[in-house]
Amino acid sequence: RHIDHATPELVAQTLEAGDLHAVIPDYEDLAAYLAGGGYVRLTDLRAGGDWQAVQQTIADSGLRGLGGAGFPSGKKWGFVRGNAGPRYMAVNGDEGEPGTFKDRYYLERVPHLFLEGMLIAAWAVEAERVYLYMRDEYPAVLHILATEIAALERAGLIEPGYVDLRRGAGAYICGEESAMIESIEGKRGLPRHRPPYVAQVGLFGQPTLVHNIETCHWIARILREGPEILSSVERNGRKGLRSYSVSGRVADPGVHLLPAGSTIRDVIAAAGGMADGHVFKAYQPGGPSSGLLPASIDDVPLDFDTLQPLGSFIGSAAVVVLSDHDRARDAALNMLRFFEAESCGQCTPCRVGCEKAVKLMQAKIWDTGLLEEVSQAMVDASICGLGQAAPNPIKLVMRHFAEEVGGGVAPMPDSDGYDTNDALD
Ligand code: NAI
Ligand code: SF4
Repeated sequence: RHIDHATPELVAQTLEAGDLHAVIPDYEDLAAYLAGGGYVRLTDLRAGGDWQAVQQTIADSGLRGLGGAGFPSGKKWGFVRGNAGPRYMAVNGDEGEPGTFKDRYYLERVPHLFLEGMLIAAWAVEAERVYLYMRDEYPAVLHILATEIAALERAGLIEPGYVDLRRGAGAYICGEESAMIESIEGKRGLPRHRPPYVAQVGLFGQPTLVHNIETCHWIARILREGPEILSSVERNGRKGLRSYSVSGRVADPGVHLLPAGSTIRDVIAAAGGMADGHVFKAYQPGGPSSGLLPASIDDVPLDFDTLQPLGSFIGSAAVVVLSDHDRARDAALNMLRFFEAESCGQCTPCRVGCEKAVKLMQAKIWDTGLLEEVSQAMVDASICGLGQAAPNPIKLVMRHFAEEVGGGVAPMPDSDGYDTNDALD
């Protein structure tokens, strides 16, 4: 699908057409943000700030990339600045990870915290232009951003056209940073091989800073409120805050801002406890790529690095809670169907691996040996994170919910009449 520049007129037309059912929430507009001291920091920095001092402040806060990978945010600035210009910035607002809605939450409430953080990062790397790649399924957010970017231009805080708002086209893979860059360049969104990293060779072959929406939000807050806003928060030996997008069998789903050292029990408590009539059984800690963990693993901080020994990770902190009404194997199958549909198809292990795994997982008794083999091939030989992490739900369900999947070779039809041997033909 053709990607349009989301001008205010275009977004207004789309909303008027009524096909997107957008409800524009009350949010803090430019006038309100300026009245509260907004953009003072940006203006001061542009007038003669030291980008390395700002980088140090970000490092002191401990901020890490909140798209999901947790790469130290300020460190990226150094990589990008280390390469000759022109340099660009691309903001990843595609938020396609199932269960993740934290970026939308902040943009629908305080969009200028994000915009100021984005412009501070763009200033730090001397970006010639900023490309803001937004999820098209967020029409209200597109409307807000188009309106407020135009307001920033009128206020003289940015040059007309400095921030180029782009609409995504519903492809999960375009949230992978190099696929997003291909898409911005007008090409099909296929991930590139890394290295080189986008900090060296990004948009139009130039060094590019890529940040997620929430990362920019916190950059503005750290510079306004000090690095202690994150570094002083401690729980279970971890520092900082996480915006957990919580859904599933809880009483109060939504975005819950909690210390980064929170466990699943803390997250469920913040979400009002389990929904009536549901007993906690399992949880997806950070999007489908993070797989499923059992309720018995309830004392591990849900933070970057802490879940790796368990074969999982926190990613973008999309927590989905399952109960005794759910089967882990059904949830895992649903996840693999998603990956099968969203694989860009560029490399065989992912394209074929997802398809075969879905078929194997439809059998009553899983052929666990074969699923292990398929999973390993995907991990070893896929180009990007989608194919490399897609087997996580399979592996974790086999490890923690073995009673649901049986085990061993199972050339027997399941309730849908499907035979696992056919899957391999
Ligand atoms: P990654 O760890 O490979 O890279 C993270 C960032 O650090 C990238 O910007 C990369 O360019 C940069 N980087 C890493 N090493 C570098 C180096 N040596 N030099 C310069 N730059 C370097 O992770 P990746 O594959 O970009 O992201 C995976 C994460 O994305 C997963 O944790 C997943 O949870 C998350 N994700 C989030 C989604 C969302 O909707 N928020 C959707 C899908 C995945
Ligand atoms: Fe495409 Fe999957 Fe290969 Fe990634 S791993 S490049 S999504 S086919």
